[in-house]
Amino acid sequence: MDAGRAPARLKLSEEVDRVQRVVCPGSFDPVTNGHLDIIGRAAGLYDEVVVAVLINVTKHGLFTVDERVEMLHEATARYGNVRVDRFHGLLVDFCAANGITAVIKGLRAVSDFEYEMQMAQMNYRMAKVETLFMTTNPLYSFLRSSLVKEIAKYGGDVSGLVPDAVLSRLRERLAQE
Ligand code: PNS
Repeated sequence: MDAGRAPARLKLSEEVDRVQRVVCPGSFDPVTNGHLDIIGRAAGLYDEVVVAVLINVTKHGLFTVDERVEMLHEATARYGNVRVDRFHGLLVDFCAANGITAVIKGLRAVSDFEYEMQMAQMNYRMAKVETLFMTTNPLYSFLRSSLVKEIAKYGGDVSGLVPDAVLSRLRERLAQE
């Protein structure tokens, strides 16, 4: 056997065996079609995508974390390699606990860039966790959960901006307020 070729073979099998697991983190209060565009594209690129909902005890959302997770489950059910989870504390700790080496973020506009860059650099500094940015589909470049909630609250039409299951939950929740 050619001993000189063994390390190259070993390296190849290590690369093949390695699961490329990434995380799409966020508040998802609620998930929008913009989020789903990024999650779906990430699912096409990586072996596993973990959608991680931040549990923020200091911020009261329109939907509970359980409801957000449930809506994400429904909206991502078509992808076999997407799992939904929740986390509190530092994102880098969640990554370490789940064997995740990279964070996927959507960038809508230049206004997103500064803060996202700070978080990306801080996460890399803390734990060598990489952040990969995807440009948002121009169809959704103006879309954010807070705007969806505000528009829906005042009776505006948000169909086409969120999945249908979210639309009905939004109507229900806002009718109760
Ligand atoms: O949807 P959002 O609210 O813009 O998501 C922000 C999120 C959850 C990605 C970010 O706040 C986060 O990662 N929070 C976890 C706490 C943390 O790790 N903070 C240090 C960031 S450098």
